[in-house]
Amino acid sequence: MTLISKTLVGALALTTALAAPLKADPTAEVLHYWTSGGEAQAVKALQEAFAARGGSWVDAPVAGGGGDAQAAVLRARVLAGDPPAAVQIKGPNIQEWAEAGALGDLSAVATAQNWDAVLPAAIQDIVKYEGNYVAVPVNVHRVDWIWANPEVLAKVGATVPTTWDEFNETADKLLAAGIIPLAHGGQPWQDATVFETVVLGIGGVDFYRKALVELDMDALGSDTMVAVFDQMRKMRGYVDPDFPGRDWNLATAMVMRGEAAMQIMGDWAKGEFAAAGKVPGVDYICASTPSENGYLLNSDSFAMFNVSGEDNVEGQALLAELILGTDFQETFNVLKGSIPARTDVPRDSFDDCAIKSMDDMVSAAEGNTLLGSMAHEIAQAGAVRGAFIDVATAHFNSDMSSADAVAQLVDAIKLAQ
Ligand code: BGC
Repeated sequence: MTLISKTLVGALALTTALAAPLKADPTAEVLHYWTSGGEAQAVKALQEAFAARGGSWVDAPVAGGGGDAQAAVLRARVLAGDPPAAVQIKGPNIQEWAEAGALGDLSAVATAQNWDAVLPAAIQDIVKYEGNYVAVPVNVHRVDWIWANPEVLAKVGATVPTTWDEFNETADKLLAAGIIPLAHGGQPWQDATVFETVVLGIGGVDFYRKALVELDMDALGSDTMVAVFDQMRKMRGYVDPDFPGRDWNLATAMVMRGEAAMQIMGDWAKGEFAAAGKVPGVDYICASTPSENGYLLNSDSFAMFNVSGEDNVEGQALLAELILGTDFQETFNVLKGSIPARTDVPRDSFDDCAIKSMDDMVSAAEGNTLLGSMAHEIAQAGAVRGAFIDVATAHFNSDMSSADAVAQLVDAIKLAQ
């Protein structure tokens, strides 16, 4: 990041153009990683809205869930002096790119649409840099979800577990019945996704905050963290032998087809169920992973990188305006499985899982139990996130003891800071 040229031009031009009426032929190359069935439908809705307003969309998808593959492409493009106009980034990454001088200021459109009045404080914090909007939020994705197939659970007389002990009991019964308890894709970010839900569930909200957000060394090296890795070792026993490298959406399909009972994954998984015509409460159950009252928040957004050319600059302005429009927020998020970033979108089109997410997010914000996801780059980015993911995945994919994993975690986080 420090290598990024601070001489990238266009920030001023963009700021001015965002306030101006459209004159040119708005164009935007959009870098994103939404390539699964549900994701593709959602991004198509954005393309269509853009086209309906005269925009030319240049699609730049980079396959790879969680966005790690896209991050490498973005760095290379910026260092080559050829950034895409709009990029799906989030969390502290937004701050880092803004600090490097790579992002356009969205203040004009934010003021025109009164973003301050419609975005929750937690989202404003993510997309503002030094008090100004530098990214436009698309959604809120909750991470701590279990997606379950009720028919499969019923085969062992079970319902969705509400404690980790119950999770283990149910999983043991499923194993004994020859059923895969947990559909999982063995990719580092997916291992880390399960890991953070276990940190929240076993440790609780305060422990999650100390360990994964504040990087408190006592919490990271504690017996509670040992217990987290003990649970992760159990989880490893609940996945099928073919899990390494599997994409997350293929794991979701295993639950859909009844080949596995449950998946732990953010609610982009719901986009897959929806794309397959599955109905929540009937074909599948959504439930938050066992925890007292936490909510692991992830939020996608687009940042507009400094690009030259009137068409590009107007394309960016149009995109920013569309993305936070009430209609688009509704259409997009129904398809994506997420909930709107803005709080005033009518709820009628959203299913029960989305309504639960909306309600839980409000109570979590009120009760101070809203926590940024580590795996999904809200609590941490860069080297620190990398260190968490490396240790979580190294432990999951070996016979490393919990004590050794904790020792490695402490060392890795100290080094990464
Ligand atoms: C993103 C989602 C995406 C998922 C799988 C998450 O980090 O926030 O938008 O669907 O990764 O790629």
